[in-house]
Amino acid sequence: MPDDPQRRFEQDRALDARLDAPGREGLTGTARSDVYAPTRDPDDVTVAPDGRPMGEQPQWRQDFPIDWPQDQYVARRDLAKFLVLTSGAFVAGQAWIAAQHLVRARRAPPRVRVASLAEVPVGTAKMFRYPGDHDACLLLRPDADTLVAFSQACTHLSCAVVPDFAGGTLVCPCHHGYFELRTGRNIAGPPPRPLPRVELELVGDEVYAVGVTARTV
Ligand code: FES
Repeated sequence: MPDDPQRRFEQDRALDARLDAPGREGLTGTARSDVYAPTRDPDDVTVAPDGRPMGEQPQWRQDFPIDWPQDQYVARRDLAKFLVLTSGAFVAGQAWIAAQHLVRARRAPPRVRVASLAEVPVGTAKMFRYPGDHDACLLLRPDADTLVAFSQACTHLSCAVVPDFAGGTLVCPCHHGYFELRTGRNIAGPPPRPLPRVELELVGDEVYAVGVTARTV
């Protein structure tokens, strides 16, 4: 039968417009109309003992649902509440850290006796803790007239540095970092900053630590 354009036009007009309608199979761009609709597995849904829908259930049952779709549903209000609470906790935490930092910065550093000169002969070092019990430091005496002290924690990843008086360096064995023994300056390897310097005071033969100076260069 010859192709009648008028008849084809009538046929097309009669085609059901819904994408999953019979007769549209195989046409470009067709898909089931409910393809993106959430599926609810009947096994996941629990009906309350009284049989009434969830919207009519008491608040406690709505707050603690026992079927999966209801349990996984997050209301916009709940999400907003969660975001506000977590952001608030984050801000409070940051404020607490900043306050602690300010308090510590304003507190005068302690004055602590480190050693007597007799305890640190030339070419030796003495370990001590300053300003806190967990802050290991080294008192170094490279010659009779020089006393210096630095934090013992490497500025790379905090391994303990050890003195090498012959080489004039403090060596970090973890990744081969090197610092100048007399100045604490980083001279080789991964350490990015000099060692914090412990300020010393000599009273008679007694050596005191009186502060710590963190340095960037
Ligand atoms: S921890 Fe000292 S060089 Fe890495």
